[in-house]
Amino acid sequence: MSIISDYKKKTKESAKLFSLSTKFHVNGVSHNIRFFEPYPFVVKSSSGKNLVDVDDNKYTDYWMGHWSLILGHGPKQVKDSLKKQIEKSWMYGTVNEQTIKLSELISKAVPVAEKIRYVTSGTEATMYAVRLARSVTGKKIIAKIDGGWHGYTSDLLKSVNWPFTESESSGVVNEEKIISIPFNDLEKSLEILNKVSNDLAGIIIEPILGGGGCIPATEEYLKGIQEFAHKNNSLFILDEIVTGFRFRFGCLYPTMKLDPDIVTLGKIVGGGMAIGVMCGKKEIMKHADTTGKKKSERSYIGGGTFSANPMSMTSGFATLTELKKSKEIYSKINSLGKFTRDELGKVFGDKVIITGQGSLFMTHFAKDGITEIVNSAQAAKCDTESLHKYHFKMIAQDGIFFLPGKLGAISNTHTKDDIKKMIIATENFQQ
Ligand SMILES: Cc1ncc(COP(=O)(O)O)c(C=O)c1O
Repeated sequence: MSIISDYKKKTKESAKLFSLSTKFHVNGVSHNIRFFEPYPFVVKSSSGKNLVDVDDNKYTDYWMGHWSLILGHGPKQVKDSLKKQIEKSWMYGTVNEQTIKLSELISKAVPVAEKIRYVTSGTEATMYAVRLARSVTGKKIIAKIDGGWHGYTSDLLKSVNWPFTESESSGVVNEEKIISIPFNDLEKSLEILNKVSNDLAGIIIEPILGGGGCIPATEEYLKGIQEFAHKNNSLFILDEIVTGFRFRFGCLYPTMKLDPDIVTLGKIVGGGMAIGVMCGKKEIMKHADTTGKKKSERSYIGGGTFSANPMSMTSGFATLTELKKSKEIYSKINSLGKFTRDELGKVFGDKVIITGQGSLFMTHFAKDGITEIVNSAQAAKCDTESLHKYHFKMIAQDGIFFLPGKLGAISNTHTKDDIKKMIIATENFQQ
């Protein structure tokens, strides 16, 4: 039987409900990447490592809420804290103590977070980071990475998908103010940056490309870009929305002795509730202070009805508290990640290239002579059709969920046996 008919057979309720969803929502979804062919299953609940769909199929989840759920779905400590918060109510629209508690934790773990602003998505955080960089420097151009993904902010919606030359969307203006540089290629990047150095406000980089293929930056590359930014009086912005609190209690940048001006966080620090964080050095963040300043001297970066709402602050605090208390979580999930990459490598041999770090991993089906993946162009030139087929096969036949084409994230609820099951499913995959 074909994979598609296996899938259709077990997701009949999902088919009906998704068809209803298309009546209300463009393509049936509200986030473009959540659609996959022939239709995505519809989830009714989740718990621990599992998603459960409306046909009662259970999936071991490696998408884990856009990689935000490091403790798994609905962890008890977070649930209990949220229940208590609900009793107190869930939206104040005022300064609240829950925010201060979360900030005490973040500022201790992330040295650059001398001042913090909360928003409700990573997209907003990077949008503000761009505005602040322009305000602080009085310059206009922002450099990003080919294949870098920072959310749907109009400014940064450029050079996301290979070949990186076409506009990503209609409706985006002033694209000439965003330039892009090749990941892990310092010489070429500096050449491009030098050409715009007079008007370069900032450079924004993920230390590991997430959406761009789960590809770590070399320390040498990041240090070289940072050095250029600082010498040029441009801001060095690290987007740690995926990497923050993913590998250790804190960010990735201190492990490479980097000194960013602004760091953006999201996902894990919200513990599964809506969040985005923009934080940075005092002398940079003070430009956001609107008290007693003329419009021309300040940067408006604090808005959002739901910014610092008590639910997000509470779930973030409960999640970080648990991660801080149980440091062994990191050694466990990081070593499961290594086990996964090693075992996938053994099954596929040189047919694939496995990228990732710690608890993140991604499989790239080698094609057209690609033998290493150090940037998004190489990832995009791999056989992405086979990757989708591989992920879809596991959804349809093995009860394992990866968002097709995306990297996998291991949570504290996954076990070695889960990984072994995924490896067996992989062995049965026919390209
Ligand atoms: C590195 C990075 N930055 C920013 C974002 C945008 O975050 P959000 O989807 O919360 O707007 C994402 C989302 O995946 C991301 O991976």
